[in-house]
Amino acid sequence: MEIVIRPTAAEVDSTAADIVERYVRSGATTLGLATGSSPIGTYRELARRHRDAGLDFAAAQAFLLDEYLGLPRTDPQSYYSVIRSEFVDHVDLDPARVWSLDGESSDPEAEADGFDSSIGAVGGVDVQLLGIGTDGHIGFNEPGSSLTSRTRVKTLAAQTRRDNARFFGGVDDVPHQVLTQGLGTICDARHLVMIATGVGKAAAIAAAVEGPLSAFCPASVMQLHPHVTVVIDEAAAASLALADYYRYALEHKPSWQSF
Ligand code: GLP
Repeated sequence: MEIVIRPTAAEVDSTAADIVERYVRSGATTLGLATGSSPIGTYRELARRHRDAGLDFAAAQAFLLDEYLGLPRTDPQSYYSVIRSEFVDHVDLDPARVWSLDGESSDPEAEADGFDSSIGAVGGVDVQLLGIGTDGHIGFNEPGSSLTSRTRVKTLAAQTRRDNARFFGGVDDVPHQVLTQGLGTICDARHLVMIATGVGKAAAIAAAVEGPLSAFCPASVMQLHPHVTVVIDEAAAASLALADYYRYALEHKPSWQSF
């Protein structure tokens, strides 16, 4: 894992955008997109580069991490809608090639299995953006999730429903169940890029990066992955024991080596 500590959230956004840009400019690429507030600045930066610097997404396709069960795609809080309003509508990524789980499927288990097959059929995800929940979840893999899980239905933790209430009318409006890529599915992506800012994420980041590998902190599964970049601001780095080492390693990173 490479831990990249940036002084500000804006620099986190531009570093994450640099990584995505490298893949997109390399030709046909499969992006793994996350929702939630953490990647929004990165999406805005990518959209700016599309407008101002000729960053062209026409050859790319994308898969979403997760979706609320029971929410129609027309609901503005469905991740199907959110990824369009926050990102896809602002670049030339073909919306028909942005795949997401159907929260209204009459057979959610078949929907989940089919989603994993679709990712496999295109050769897998090249670069997967991730946020992290305050309880250490990635996608919607709550604590206790099998570290090798595949896409499936999960029940949200009360803490996650409270955290996400800000996107809905109130906590009672947050769905209880979701479809999410499993931890094993996520780890099939060739490069994981985690984005986190703010002191509210400091404990989860420390547990994910420096804590034991454990289903208690689902994001700790990243410790098993061969190519992970964790891009965080100083506030989100506040609880890292080895923060000085990560800064030192970044300062002395060979110029030929990319993230
Ligand atoms: C949400 C999403 C995750 C996201 C996380 C953190 O519930 N399912 O994909 O990374 O929780 O969200 P935020 O970035 O808004 O803090």
